[in-house]
Order: sequence, then structure tokens, then C-alpha cells
Amino acid sequence: MNIVLIGAQGSGKGTQAEKLTSSLGISHVASGDMFRKAFDEKTELGVKAKAYTDRGELVPDDITVAMVLSRIKEPDCARGVLLDGFPRNIAQAQALDEGLKDIGRQIDVAIYLDVPREELLKRLSGRYICRANQHVYNIYANPPKVPGVCDLDGSELYQRSDDKGEAVQKRLDIFFNETVRLLDYYGSQDKVIVVNGNRDIDQVHTDILNQINAFMERKKKG
Ligand code: AP5
Repeated sequence: MNIVLIGAQGSGKGTQAEKLTSSLGISHVASGDMFRKAFDEKTELGVKAKAYTDRGELVPDDITVAMVLSRIKEPDCARGVLLDGFPRNIAQAQALDEGLKDIGRQIDVAIYLDVPREELLKRLSGRYICRANQHVYNIYANPPKVPGVCDLDGSELYQRSDDKGEAVQKRLDIFFNETVRLLDYYGSQDKVIVVNGNRDIDQVHTDILNQINAFMERKKKG
């Protein structure tokens, strides 16, 4: 199964992706995580992307599409992928459809995590992620057992540079003006599931799984 997870910044894409990939046995492909890892490793791509991510702007499509499509072709993605943060505009969605078609695959379902803007701002201001594996915490809703330390791998927790200042509003504006159009794109293919993301993390996870099952049953029956 190939899934696109759509949601504004702070809607819980990364949080739900971790749970869903383990429940569904598919690979998690997160474009933002890939850019942050590339920067930590000081690759040319990482350094180039950092200038955009720090300002809260989208990294140009040519860089992003090539990076994600090449990741999807890796062996661990053959059993299915959950795409988190990609595509973010219609051009990326079209390139993704083309790229998947070339390897005989397609997006099966697009999940939209619906969360109000004021809640998004609160979540982003309280988010911390771990240096080693990008595990996500929140000082209000999902704190680590020991402050500043990842429960899962013991690495340092830090606040993302784009979770502060003007970059936050800019990222949300891009989502609500541009990325949200993906709902029409996938809606016209009858592939959208809308989930209320403004609930407890486990409730959201259960609802997503139930809705995916119901959606696949519906598709099977035609
Ligand atoms: P990326 O890393 O993808 O960031 P994002 O889209 O801005 O999404 P976030 O990671 O901010 O939010 P999330 O929905 O994953 O929320 P999370 O689960 O952490 O992208 C970063 C940058 O890379 C972009 O700005 C851009 O520059 C570039 N980029 C990436 N992809 C690109 C593309 N396709 N094209 C071009 N450029 C691209 O949750 C947020 C917080 O809330 C956490 O603290 C969490 O613990 C908490 N939380 C989660 N769920 C709940 C809940 N139900 N209740 C309470 N708290 C919750």
C-alpha cells in the first residue's frame, strides 16, 4: 500500500507516521527528515536545502522530487510507503504519479489530518525532536520521561530552527494557500480520507486505521 499523509505543520504527520508504518509494515519516507539528515551529514544537498528550510520556504521541486523518487525505489520501499511531507504542491503530486507509474505502482490513499491553526501553533512551540532518529516529543502533550533526552535512543532533544519566529507562520501560510490544494487533486481521484487530528494521539491513530480499512473494503467492492 502506498499512502500520502497530508497535514499542516504540527498536525501530527510525523507522530502518526511512526505508528502507522509499524502497524502497516510499510516504510516511512519523510522529505523533511531527509533534508535534516542530509544537513547533519553536511552533504551538498543538505546545505542547499537548509537555506530554504530555515526560512520556512519550500525547497525547489527539482531537488525534492529527485530525492524522494530515488528513495522510493530503494528495496525496503517495495512493500509500500507512507509519504510524510511529500508531495506539497500539484507539480510534486504529478511528478510522484508519473514516477510511481514508471515502476508499476500508484498512490492508494491520501490521508488528511485536520487540525485548527491555533492548535498547530501551540504544538509547534512545544515540539522537541531527537538528534539521532528524529523521534518526536511535545512538552505539553507527549513529554519525554527525562527532560531533554529521547526515551527511545537516549540522544539529545532539540527544537527545530524552523519552529521559531517568522518561519512558523510562513510554513503555515504555504500549507493553507498551496499544499491544501492536494485535497482537490487526490479528491478528484476519489482517494481522500479526512481524519480529525485534534484529538489524543492514540485516538487519531485508531481512527486512521479504521478509516483505511473501511476505504479499502469500499474500493474492493467497487
Ligand atoms: P517537515 O519536516 O516535513 O515539516 P512540516 O511539514 O513543517 O511538518 P512538521 O514536521 O512541522 O509537522 P508534523 O505534521 O510532522 O507534526 P509532528 O508529528 O512533529 O519539513 C520541513 C521543511 O523541509 C519544510 O518547511 C520545507 O522547507 C522542506 N520540505 C519538506 N518537504 C518538502 C517538499 N515536499 N517540498 C519542498 N520542501 C519540502 O507533531 C507536531 C507536535 O505536536 C509534536 O511535538 C507532537 O508531539 C505533537 N502532537 C502530535 N500529535 C498530537 C496530538 N494528537 N495531540 C497533541 N499533540 C500532538
